[in-house]
Amino acid sequence: MAAALRILLLTHSFNGLAQRLFTELGADGHEVSVEFDIADSVTEEAVALFAPDVIVAPFLKRAVPESVWRRHLTLIVHPGIVGDRGPSALDWAIQEAEPAWGVTVLQAEAEMDAGPVWASHAFPLRAASKADTYRNETTAGALAAVREALARVPDWRAGRWQPRPLAEISDARGRLRALMRQAERALDWAHMGSAEILARIRAADGFPGVADALFDQACHLFDAHPGRRPAGREHAAPGTLLARRDGALLRATADGAVWIGHVRRADSPHPFKLPATLAFAAETSALPELPATLMAPAGADPAELGYRELAYRETDDGTLGVLSFEFYNGAMSTAQCRRLLAAIAFARGRPTRVLVLDGGAGFWSNGIHLNTIEAAPSPADESWANIEAIDDVCLALLGLTDRLTVAALRGNAGAGGCFLALACDRVWAREGVVMNPHYKNMGNLFGSEYWTYLLPRRVGEEAAHAIMSNRLPLLARQAAAQGLIDDCFGSGRTNFTAEVEARARVLATDPALAAHIADKACRRAADEVEKPLAAYRAAELDMMRRNFYGFDPSYHVARFHFVLKSAQSWTPRHLARHRDLGWQTPRPCEAVPAP
Ligand code: COA
Repeated sequence: MAAALRILLLTHSFNGLAQRLFTELGADGHEVSVEFDIADSVTEEAVALFAPDVIVAPFLKRAVPESVWRRHLTLIVHPGIVGDRGPSALDWAIQEAEPAWGVTVLQAEAEMDAGPVWASHAFPLRAASKADTYRNETTAGALAAVREALARVPDWRAGRWQPRPLAEISDARGRLRALMRQAERALDWAHMGSAEILARIRAADGFPGVADALFDQACHLFDAHPGRRPAGREHAAPGTLLARRDGALLRATADGAVWIGHVRRADSPHPFKLPATLAFAAETSALPELPATLMAPAGADPAELGYRELAYRETDDGTLGVLSFEFYNGAMSTAQCRRLLAAIAFARGRPTRVLVLDGGAGFWSNGIHLNTIEAAPSPADESWANIEAIDDVCLALLGLTDRLTVAALRGNAGAGGCFLALACDRVWAREGVVMNPHYKNMGNLFGSEYWTYLLPRRVGEEAAHAIMSNRLPLLARQAAAQGLIDDCFGSGRTNFTAEVEARARVLATDPALAAHIADKACRRAADEVEKPLAAYRAAELDMMRRNFYGFDPSYHVARFHFVLKSAQSWTPRHLARHRDLGWQTPRPCEAVPAP
């Protein structure tokens, strides 16, 4: 490990990348604190208080003030290959189908993204959305490059190493690219094929989306998936809306069709992302619903099955069932929870002895759907319906006493989504997954999902209290070390999925399986006698009733700001450690050596 450093993370928000760096660099032994980039004077104050050895900026929307970068080593994480500059790095790479992309760590200088290069990391570019790539390859690459850069700091200070000025890097493929405008993202439904439409929407997903129109109403499109025209509609004109499925709309392209899962309507009272059929509820009601197939027959063509939020399959020997669910952004609305509940009921009827709950690749789950709640006529009533619905899912998992269940976390999990995972007998997470097993950041929400039963029985009362009140992100391997989850392995997504299946097969074919299942059923029965699950739920919901209907509006205010993405106006104290009372006297800072 490199020498321990005092690192200030200067960031626009505590996004997934900032969370990963915060947890990983802290685990590496560095002293890490966070300041949101709110105003130059606030940044200057934070730097004066913390006197960092290095400032790392994982996600900024504006330049670092000169007063800071001139006096303190400031490393910027740019989500592009060496030489790439500009605010739409990944957007251009995805839209123009670059075969490979990268992340570069460079030193802040007057010109944005043009400072000397400290480290970089390259990766092959998948056909995936910008948000998905950012959360996976970009985040992993950024961590590797930041670690490499930090290891160079002592040599740089001693004058033994210098970052490479961009002008001297002759093989740099990147170049300055302007902000990608909506005109460059525009969709021409009459002439563009599905591949081009998918690439354009993916390049703009999760932000800003592609400006388009549905039912003659301006809106932005997100969450696109390949589709096929249904029988009888093979000759529909491109642009025609053909069908609906679980919140998504099927729209004809020049050579086929694509599913659009989410839209944002600027003109509506709810100018944030919603499932397409909810945003256009009246307009889409007449479209035919094309039901998704939960369990496809062996050998079925995936292209024929099309977009599915839920999919169930079994291994050839029939011992193992895998229920996959992929909810956009990990948010689970009342309707989505009910569909998942029905899928669990289906899986329960199958003669398997082990069931893997394979959540989303972007996020395993982030709990109840705050956007659909915000858009409901009564957000309090919808919060209530949603929490009851997700509790029902947890209860169904806890009730599967005739088999073992495994939660396989390929992606991050937050709030209720973490506790949903704990409702399974085994919780396995991919190396690099970040968990946020707490609710308080959402306006002091108490939380449900049987957490008062599930959390203490895994980590004990004291640790449960600490996890809930610290409200900090936790790496999967830290979660495994403290018993919150059972194991963490497989850094790549493919490795992880293969290893989950291999391990689950071992469980399913273990001669002691019947004994494990019997033990599980016994333990559940004993726990039920001690305190029924209904009592845990009632007590949690009692607190949630106060959050939803009580005199303190904190949850409703926090949800509004979360959904509407209000700008940050201060850094929470649990992240800005340098603002704690009693923070040690700063060391004198060293000016950045002249290049
Ligand atoms: N409902 C609706 N949307 C959600 C969501 C939820 N529960 N959780 C995350 N999202 C959306 C975000 O709005 C964002 O949308 P975008 O695509 O428009 O950018 C996207 O998912 C990614 O979330 P983001 O907050 O940017 O990810 P992150 O990695 O920085 O942080 C969390 C992850 C889980 C810490 C954070 O998303 C969060 O606090 N979510 C809310 C969890 C919660 O309180 N759930 C309700 C109680 S169970």
